[in-house]
Amino acid sequence: MKSLLKQLTETFGPSGYEENVRKLVRAEVKPLADEIKVDALGNLIARKRPSKFTKDTKRIMIAAHMDEIGLMASHIDGNGFVRFSNIGGVFGRYVLGGRVRFLNGVTGVLGYDRVEKVHETPALDKIFIDVGATSRKDCPVKVGDVAAFDRPFAEMGNRLVAKSMDDRVGVLVAIETLRALKSAPHDVYFVFTTQEEVGVRGATTSAFGIDPDLGIAIDVTPTADTPNALKMEMKLGKGPCVKIQDGGMIADARIVQWMIRTAEKNKIPYQREVLLFGSTDARAMQLARAGTPAGCLSIPVRYVHSPSEVVDYSDVQNSVKLLTALLRAKIDLN
Ligand code: CO
Ligand code: ZN
Repeated sequence: MKSLLKQLTETFGPSGYEENVRKLVRAEVKPLADEIKVDALGNLIARKRPSKFTKDTKRIMIAAHMDEIGLMASHIDGNGFVRFSNIGGVFGRYVLGGRVRFLNGVTGVLGYDRVEKVHETPALDKIFIDVGATSRKDCPVKVGDVAAFDRPFAEMGNRLVAKSMDDRVGVLVAIETLRALKSAPHDVYFVFTTQEEVGVRGATTSAFGIDPDLGIAIDVTPTADTPNALKMEMKLGKGPCVKIQDGGMIADARIVQWMIRTAEKNKIPYQREVLLFGSTDARAMQLARAGTPAGCLSIPVRYVHSPSEVVDYSDVQNSVKLLTALLRAKIDLN
C-alpha cells in the first residue's frame, strides 16, 4: 500500500490536468472493477456490480479526487521570470523556497525578492517562478503551462509525508477498498474525480450522471493537534474521521450514524469531525439533481495544501477497513 501511495503522490496532476494520475489509477482498478468509464470531465468511474440485484440493492457513489492544487503560468517577464495564478488553495506561506515541476518536465524555484515586513507572508503576486531562463525567448514555459509542487514521498516512522496527500491518500483508500471488497450487495461506483480543488466540479457532473442513492466522499481533513491549532478534535493516529459538518455541508445525519455504528461494531477507531472551514466532493453529491444523502470519511492530515502533507499510516489502514465494512453489508439508514 505504501509503494502505491508513493507512486500516487509523486505523480503530477493539478486540477484539469489529471491524466497521469488517471492512467495510474486505471491500471490499478482495471482487474478489480466490472466496468470502467471516463466521462467528459475526465472522472474515472469504476463500477463494482452486486452478484445479484434485489430491492435492497443501493446505488452508491464513492468519490475521491485525483487532482491536486497547482500553479499556472500567467505572464513571463523580459528576464524570463514566470508569474502565475493559483489552481485551488495555494498559500504564500507554504510555497517560498519550494520547487515546482511543470507538466512538460521543467523545474522551477519559487522565488521572492526580499521581505519588507518580516512578520507577513507575501501575497502570491509578489512571488515568481525562476526556471533558469534569462529572457522571454529562452523561457521553457509558456503562458497557460501548469505546475505542481515537487517533493518526494518520505517515511517518518508511522507517519508518511508527501505532496498531494490531498487527495491521493483518499484515492488509495478507494482503490484498496475496491481490492478488499470481494463482493458487495450494492452497485458501487468508485469515482476518481477531477477538479475538486477548484470547486468540486468533477463530482458535480459525475453525481448527476450516476444519480446515486447515497454518496460518500473520501478526502482529507486538517488536524488540530499541532502547538497553536484551532479548537477542533481531529488528530493524527486516532482513526478515520466521520464528517458531521464542514464549511460547505452538513452531512446526512443517518449516514453519520451508520458510519459510527459500523466503526463501533467492527472495533475500528474513529473520530467525530466538525471542520470549521473547507468542503469536499460530498457537498456536490448532496446537492446533485433533487438531492442525495451524503457523508464523508476523512483521513486526518497535517499541513494540508503545503508541499509536505503528513498522515499517520494507521489512519490510512483503518480508513480502508471502515469503508470496506460500510460497503460489505446491507445498509439500513435510520
Ligand atoms: Co484540498
Ligand atoms: Zn481534498
